[in-house]
Amino acid sequence: MQQRKILVTSALPYANGPIHIGHLVEYIQTDIWVRFQKMQGHQCYYCCADDTHGTPIMLRAEKEGMTPEQLIDRVWHEHKADFDGFLVDFDNYYSTNSPETRHYAEDIYRKLRDGGLIEARSIEQYYDPQKEMFLPDRFIKGECPKCHAKDQYGDSCEACGTTYQPTDLIEPFSAVSGAAPERRESVHYFFQLDKCADFLSGWIQPPRVQAESGNKLREWLESGLTDWDISRDAPYFGFEIPDAPGKYFYVWLDAPIGYMGSFRNLCDREGIDFDSFWDKEKAAEAGTELYHFIGKDILYFHALFWPAELKSAGYRTPSAVFAHGFLTVNGQKMSKSRGTFITASSYLKHLKPEYLRYYFAAKLGGGIEDIDLSLEDFVARVNADLIGKYVNIASRSAGFIAKRFDKQLAEVGGEAIVEQVQQGAAEIAELYEAREYGKALRKIMALADEVNLYTDGKKPWEMAKQEGKDAELQQVCSVLINCFRLLTIYLQPIMPELAQGVAKFLNVEPFKWSDAETLLPAGHQINKYKHLTTRIDPKQIEALLADNAVNMEAAGDSHSQARHPEKQQHEAEANTVIEPIMETIGIEDFTKIDLRVARIVKAGPVEGADKLVQLTLDIGSETRNVFAGIKAAYKPEDLEGRLTVMVANLAPRKMRFGVSEGMVLAAGPGGGELYILNPDSGAQPGMRVK
Ligand code: 2FM
Ligand code: ZN
Repeated sequence: MQQRKILVTSALPYANGPIHIGHLVEYIQTDIWVRFQKMQGHQCYYCCADDTHGTPIMLRAEKEGMTPEQLIDRVWHEHKADFDGFLVDFDNYYSTNSPETRHYAEDIYRKLRDGGLIEARSIEQYYDPQKEMFLPDRFIKGECPKCHAKDQYGDSCEACGTTYQPTDLIEPFSAVSGAAPERRESVHYFFQLDKCADFLSGWIQPPRVQAESGNKLREWLESGLTDWDISRDAPYFGFEIPDAPGKYFYVWLDAPIGYMGSFRNLCDREGIDFDSFWDKEKAAEAGTELYHFIGKDILYFHALFWPAELKSAGYRTPSAVFAHGFLTVNGQKMSKSRGTFITASSYLKHLKPEYLRYYFAAKLGGGIEDIDLSLEDFVARVNADLIGKYVNIASRSAGFIAKRFDKQLAEVGGEAIVEQVQQGAAEIAELYEAREYGKALRKIMALADEVNLYTDGKKPWEMAKQEGKDAELQQVCSVLINCFRLLTIYLQPIMPELAQGVAKFLNVEPFKWSDAETLLPAGHQINKYKHLTTRIDPKQIEALLADNAVNMEAAGDSHSQARHPEKQQHEAEANTVIEPIMETIGIEDFTKIDLRVARIVKAGPVEGADKLVQLTLDIGSETRNVFAGIKAAYKPEDLEGRLTVMVANLAPRKMRFGVSEGMVLAAGPGGGELYILNPDSGAQPGMRVK
């Protein structure tokens, strides 16, 4: 196999808040991919950094009575400890507030300017006369023009969900000083993205972007690209623009350049050739690859602004941008009052990092769907699959090898089960490469099931009691140890620490992927088996939730997973368009619709219909077969067991695949953005919704 040269990044977290489990989806997803590449023997570098600039960080530091530099230094150490705790193994974890990032930000800016892509023009903005600074929309508050809720942000109302301009607020005030903001003019610098439209429309194709991302990007492109405001006025914590005193690069300009800065810093330390990864010609010649893992909310920055900047400044563009969805906990947005806004550091006080890595991996695919951490399912999967199926293989066999056979293995070559497990390697590798970790784990666990079936058939614990069965017992246990070793190789990208423990127990070097081609030879001596990991006790989950509910109240922090310091125009565009309310009806019209609580007892794909899921719904008195067009939004297996609401008296509809006997209720514009209804807990199948 040819050795690939790969640079991988995850989005840079802001240096003003703790890492939480919502962030971790991405770092764990990326880390698994990088570890897999390294196990393959590829040259793969994983770079990241804290995203340190911008108004919120500047104000936060002031509030805490320190300089921004002191704040970002403290947060850097906190973030680093969290990532280490979750075994996220960066080759470099750096900061955007670095000479390297400044160098490339200035360099790219100059090249864009010289290429005629930067325009300076005067714009009007809110200004806080007391604090003497321009205010980002997020820092203006006032009364919602629609529902009149007080104390709402300048971009959207948290009470009624309306989005608007800060100018629409009634009695606006500065969230920084409380002063009434004024309108003031100032010169800003704009990157004329529109001039890159032709390039971008060619660029946003698979495999550079995922299919779902491509659709969204094309929509943005078709509706016209607006100029991007890349400057902010002093006071601002960031890099001053070279030819414009008092003007600073907007945080989002230097954030992705932080990927280059972090890598440059690594290159200088380790003697890696930076240009072979970033210079357009040299990168093409060397065949280096560049991948950015990101959340779907920052696609615009990474798949439009970023490649446009790079291209226009003569750098290479990314090989691909891999977006993922958001995390929900127990089917809902992470919430402080429920204690599900779980910080990385609090999780680590209660549970092992590899449980979460395992669970996230089980839920992750190559697409941009949201993933749910169902805490009950989390406990069940770790205990039943990871420990019950996988660890069990070792605990059922290692003792006999140690006590009865002086820790020595017998010859196992040619055993069907060993070959079967060995043959899984190629398929599992392909799934890792495609970021289909959920599918990879399903395959690994299916192999573990086979091994357990083999064990149940052989019953080593009975052999151990019988005379003259020693050789057979040693052979069966050696088969199990070998299968366990192979499964561990497959699990290593997800569970590196566990795999390290297994390598020690088996008395072998750390695993490479190609080790799956060989087996442990007869006579190989293993070490004494120690418990590799323990079950989760549901009490640990209770304690974790209680801990976070308290933590957050004390912190009084109301951030959600939206990670932007300043709301960008495209985000508003990405939000759901609110359809106009339909014409008024009488209650008698409404009561004609018989809505019932339904339990999804079965959900599966429909052959020949990409968009449909076939649902079997229990509505108390009977079950119904329904074809629902929700495939892009839900994986069938995630739906099973859930409660939802259906229209039970809709006339049956004959379809190509069978008869659909009703309709499930869902909100959203369609495609991947569909949200099925969820009754509150306590509701039972068959209850009427009225
Ligand atoms: O959304 C965020 O949290 C940003 N700090 C991500 C930046 S990613 C990259 F561009 F640096
Ligand atoms: Zn409102």
